[in-house]
Amino acid sequence: MRIIFLGPPGVGKGTQSHKLVDSLYIPHISTGEMLREAIRQKTDLGLKVAAQMEGGRLAADEIVVQLVRQRLAQPDCRNGYLLDGFPRTLPQAASLDLALAVDDEAIDAVLNLTVDEDELFRRLMDRAKKEDRGDDNDETIRKRMEVYDDMTSPLIKYYHDQQVLHRIDGLGTVDEVFERILAVLKKVQQDKKA
Ligand code: AP5
Repeated sequence: MRIIFLGPPGVGKGTQSHKLVDSLYIPHISTGEMLREAIRQKTDLGLKVAAQMEGGRLAADEIVVQLVRQRLAQPDCRNGYLLDGFPRTLPQAASLDLALAVDDEAIDAVLNLTVDEDELFRRLMDRAKKEDRGDDNDETIRKRMEVYDDMTSPLIKYYHDQQVLHRIDGLGTVDEVFERILAVLKKVQQDKKA
């Protein structure tokens, strides 16, 4: 299965991805985690993207596309993967489609997690108390949400038009949301086999 998690900051993409890869045995590819690791390691790439991430803006498409392309070329991605936080712009989605088309492959499901904005804000402010993420503060959270609306939300129509989009209510306990995701993926798998 090739799966994409779509949704605004704080909706639960990371949390659900970690649970899902444990049951599907496919790699979890989070561009946010890859970029944070590059910043921690102070690599050239990390130095290039640090200011954008701290400010809640997106890293340049070319940088992220290149990063994901290299990762998807690894042998563990041959039987599928779970993309978390990529694509995040229409050009990123188009480049992914082009790369997939070369091997006659396609995305099986785009899981669009949704939660109202007050809850997103609550979750991220709560995480800020426990974890040290430079982009979890009032001003940057607002910027990330604005960037999501402007740059990422057009992907909802993009994948809806490709008939691979599934909206999933992200409100409730982590396990409740996970059950909803499993139900959707079960149906996708059945349709694929039919
Ligand atoms: P990224 O790391 O992808 O962050 P994000 O999209 O802002 O998402 P978050 O990690 O904040 O939230 P999430 O949806 O994963 O929720 P989580 O499970 O953590 O990207 C960070 C930055 O990297 C971007 O701003 C950008 O600069 C750059 N970047 C990344 N990808 C890029 C790309 N493709 N192009 C360009 N730039 C890119 O949950 C949040 C909190 O809620 C947690 O504390 C969790 O415990 C809690 N929680 C989860 N589920 C529930 C629940 N059901 N009930 C209550 N609490 C819950």
